[in-house]
Amino acid sequence: MNVLGIETSCDETAASVVQDGRVVLSDVVASQILVHAQYGGVVPEVASRQHVATIVPVVRRALDEAKLTWSQLDGIAVTCGPGLVGALLVGVETAKALGQALGKPMVGVNHLAGHLAAVYLEDPSLPEPPPTPHLALLVSGGHTELIRVDGNGVYRVVGATRDDAAGEAFDKVGKMLGLGYPGGVQIDRLSTQGDPNAYALPRALAGRDDIDFSFSGLKTAVSTLLQARRAVAGDAALAPPEGAELANMAASVQAAIVDVLVRKSRRALVREGLKDLVVCGGVAANRGLRRGLAAAAAEDGFRLFIPPPKRCTDNAAMIAAAGTRALERGARAPLDLAVDPGLPL
Ligand code: KG4
Ligand code: ZN
Repeated sequence: MNVLGIETSCDETAASVVQDGRVVLSDVVASQILVHAQYGGVVPEVASRQHVATIVPVVRRALDEAKLTWSQLDGIAVTCGPGLVGALLVGVETAKALGQALGKPMVGVNHLAGHLAAVYLEDPSLPEPPPTPHLALLVSGGHTELIRVDGNGVYRVVGATRDDAAGEAFDKVGKMLGLGYPGGVQIDRLSTQGDPNAYALPRALAGRDDIDFSFSGLKTAVSTLLQARRAVAGDAALAPPEGAELANMAASVQAAIVDVLVRKSRRALVREGLKDLVVCGGVAANRGLRRGLAAAAAEDGFRLFIPPPKRCTDNAAMIAAAGTRALERGARAPLDLAVDPGLPL
């Protein structure tokens, strides 16, 4: 079964063809990061216009690279939420038009279910897919959730952030430190040169018995740190941190976020009686998080399944994988499929 996946929920225009929900025949991602970076974050209207301009060439390339003709497709899967409403509309209307013109079944995919399905795509680093039930840590720009996965499409959120998502925390603090967008990638890069213990930053809710998160206090802590630094220098116009000082701040921020994510994942695995942890979403590309979880897995004896970095950040292969699973369950989207910017898992 060859399924075309289409993803336009935020700032990546992506299309991919996946065979049998597992073999990636093509994986095209046109990133808009350079366009949005000049504004310091994603501008929704600009994102929509970029999607309109790139969607058709991106879909064509996905077909070409898969070496397939339109008639060899068996279905179309498209992200219908959550995300930016105008951006989602571009993908959904494209999928509807293709589905109608080709006479192929179409299915709407929840972007979060897409992230959760990235782990089923074939990759040398993932010799086998995770069994169910398993626990998933979904960490992206908009979401931070611990999810119990009991089967194909059967999910239960067992822990979540009370305020900012982990990716949002990375990006907002990155902005405060004068780093480019997206801050998560820059903080990951700088962290390799810094001391994670240089600054004592809060680990919110860490001591509590629950498996929820809170990252908004980190912004306040970093802001206080920067203010204190200005007070010491006695100069309101002091330049932003750089060199070793910047690297130490980045490493300390990353350590604070990673610490909590690792700690709560461990606790959730015990509480749910599970032995397999899937990690997905853009922040799962973070090297500090991957290292921290690998160490915890070795110590606690759980198995870790993390897709390669390019399948953690937004892509359409994961949407095709989730779509294939939905088509297998018999799901079909009507022609009036709506987008839902706040679609829950
Ligand atoms: O899953 P994703 O591509 O889009 C959403 O669904 O939100 O996640 C994007 C988020 C951004 O906040 C970005 O800063 C973060 O993932 N991210 C990272 C890294 N790569 C992407 N955060 C930390 N370290 C990284 N290497
Ligand atoms: Zn995403």
